[in-house]
Amino acid sequence: MSLRAQIKAWRKTEQTIAIVPTMGNLHAGHLSLIKKAQTLADKVVVSIFVNPLQFDDQQDLHKYPRTLAADSEKLMQAGCDLLFTPDTALMYPQSIALQSVVHVPGMDDKLCGAQRPGHFDGVATVVTKLFNMVQPDLAVFGEKDYQQLLLVRKLVSDLNLPVKIVGAPTIREASDLAMSSRNQHLTATEKQQAAQLYASLQWLKQQLEAGEYDVNALLKQTRSQLTSSGFTVDYVAICRAEDLQAANPPEDKNLRLLAAGRLGSVRLIDNIGCSLA
Ligand code: PAJ
Repeated sequence: MSLRAQIKAWRKTEQTIAIVPTMGNLHAGHLSLIKKAQTLADKVVVSIFVNPLQFDDQQDLHKYPRTLAADSEKLMQAGCDLLFTPDTALMYPQSIALQSVVHVPGMDDKLCGAQRPGHFDGVATVVTKLFNMVQPDLAVFGEKDYQQLLLVRKLVSDLNLPVKIVGAPTIREASDLAMSSRNQHLTATEKQQAAQLYASLQWLKQQLEAGEYDVNALLKQTRSQLTSSGFTVDYVAICRAEDLQAANPPEDKNLRLLAAGRLGSVRLIDNIGCSLA
């Protein structure tokens, strides 16, 4: 049955629909989003589409792992109701250069947006298209990509899209490294070094919670911890959780601590929440 026919049939019987958008190469982090979606909607659609519009680096796009057979197997076991795997010709039938693009201001100029020009326009565009194609009641996104989660929340609010956005916590390896399809590109040594990303964010959180509010000094020390562990640091930031503006603790209390860096050619990101009393 086509996507449209299946959605129509579900709608006819008043079943609620959730979507979990992914780029495939599924791991336990993705599967946790599906589990969450299943508790919130009658039917769960998972999309797998490696979206060329959000890759600023063509090499990154080409080396992105495509593992559809293994993904389908995992989705079947997880009880996914419909797997939607559009190809580039379906998503972007004209050339990509002629594609209308959704731009969400205030998100693309900082943190990952500043590092990856055009990335968030690509994400906002593909998410809008997926919402229009699947017409879900709700969508689940991981906090692992916290800036992306806020971007999608702003997108649906600004454009009055009738989709509820639900955030889900980051799933981690035993070492506390956030699960990511990029982790498989790390060498054994880099994998050990990678654990420092979360450890440094935790250290930063402890400092803030203990009443240390010299933001510049804290950021400098966190960066140097990461550098000593082998990272080339892209950014470390203490932000307001609601809009990712630079935070001014202790006046700002609801914080998000975010970091990104490279080990060899692999770019890793992570973030955690921090609430000041
Ligand atoms: P992808 O990286 O495949 O991630 C799909 C979803 O899984 C996102 O919501 C992401 O935040 C979540 N996720 C990834 N790792 C996770 C982890 N360790 N724990 C919990 N959730 C995790 O993000 C994208 O794809 C794309 O940008 C997309 C939204 C599909 C648009 O193309």
